[in-house]
Amino acid sequence: MTRNDRHPEVNIGLVGHVDHGKTTLVEALSGSWTDQHSEEMKRGISIRLGYADATFRRCPDVDAPECYTVDETCPDGSESEPLRTVSFVDAPGHETLMATMLSGASLMDGAVLVVSATETVPQAQTEEHLMALDSIGIENVVIAQNKIDLVDSDRARQNYEEIASFVEGTVAEDAPVVPISAGQEANLDLLIEAIEEEIPTPERDPGADPRLHVARSFDINKPGTRANELLGGVLGGSLVAGELDVDDEIELRPGREVEHGGEAEWQPITTDVRSLQAGGESADTVTPGGLLGVGTGLDPSLTKSDGLAGQIAGPPGSLPPTRERFTMDVELLDRIVGEGDAIEPISTGEPLMLTVGTATTVGSVTSARDDECEVQLKRPVCAANGTQIAINRRVGTRWRLIGIGTLRG
Ligand code: GTP
Repeated sequence: MTRNDRHPEVNIGLVGHVDHGKTTLVEALSGSWTDQHSEEMKRGISIRLGYADATFRRCPDVDAPECYTVDETCPDGSESEPLRTVSFVDAPGHETLMATMLSGASLMDGAVLVVSATETVPQAQTEEHLMALDSIGIENVVIAQNKIDLVDSDRARQNYEEIASFVEGTVAEDAPVVPISAGQEANLDLLIEAIEEEIPTPERDPGADPRLHVARSFDINKPGTRANELLGGVLGGSLVAGELDVDDEIELRPGREVEHGGEAEWQPITTDVRSLQAGGESADTVTPGGLLGVGTGLDPSLTKSDGLAGQIAGPPGSLPPTRERFTMDVELLDRIVGEGDAIEPISTGEPLMLTVGTATTVGSVTSARDDECEVQLKRPVCAANGTQIAINRRVGTRWRLIGIGTLRG
């Protein structure tokens, strides 16, 4: 059995305000290795959810923290040993792509919050992203205090104090704050050490039913390919449980909408796994962590243009139910992040944008009480009881996060 030893084993969200250095940091940590991710399929996925993998390594004869590196060759000329490969999920910092952030966040095992030392704390998205981490309960957080090459030591200290008081009372309260310069590649060893300590690879049960959250889907055939040469549809996403093997039979839910006796109805789709791609290489078996490409026997017209994004795949009969309406317990935030406006209670009839795993759907509120509401969805979702849901309300021209729901059935 081939198993890619550089298959990422943990997903780490990279969050923070626009221009604070997320992309620069990922480039510094993943080096030339991400260049291998240039195939169209993976590039497409990365743009949407921004995944990049980095292999953390250790120099055997060097003391901590200097022993931590992403280079294969150590300063003393010896070869470094790989510790583990991590996958960074880069949440967009531009405007409030909160839905993408949260749908990515459902796949995050921990997060690195990048804060620039050159600006006062918090900037709008620093606050928004930390609040999202807090709401969905991502507790393993490392704070990268970036751009320290641009400030003097007094400003660096003052900025550190601002960070410390800002994270008080949140999931990041005890998070280590590591001063770095992503641009100058300074203190990356300290950052890797902190990530190794704070964001462990979660324990997985290899015997659990595999669950694939589909974030994207593709038709990889070139236009004009003959029918008998067509390759099946490809799913891009992350496994959150179990192991997936080539030849496994899988079911996708909600599936597709079909006409049945004059009425539209959602039916699960069944197919088989034809090929697997993980960490930039093909594999026979894949485990949770990072981004996967799953070649299937599906008609590519179903998978083209993200047709199956937001769906869940697993062994037939093992998936949670498809829901066209549900009730959720609701916990509203105190105020709209970055704007300070109080959040009015949810009212019957109002439209909400709901992010459920990798699915985003609009729901119309059919009944609302203080701490619960019932929604009728435009597009159904497949989700188990207890699933957390990001609730967004339209405020002006944007959807803004107003709270977190817990699906009750
Ligand atoms: P978005 O993707 O737009 O949210 O931004 P980002 O957070 O990914 O920031 P990005 O990495 O694009 O960095 C923004 C700017 O800051 C770029 O011009 C970088 O070259 C610069 N920059 C990032 N890190 C450092 C650093 O440590 N020192 C200095 N001097 N400049 C940096």
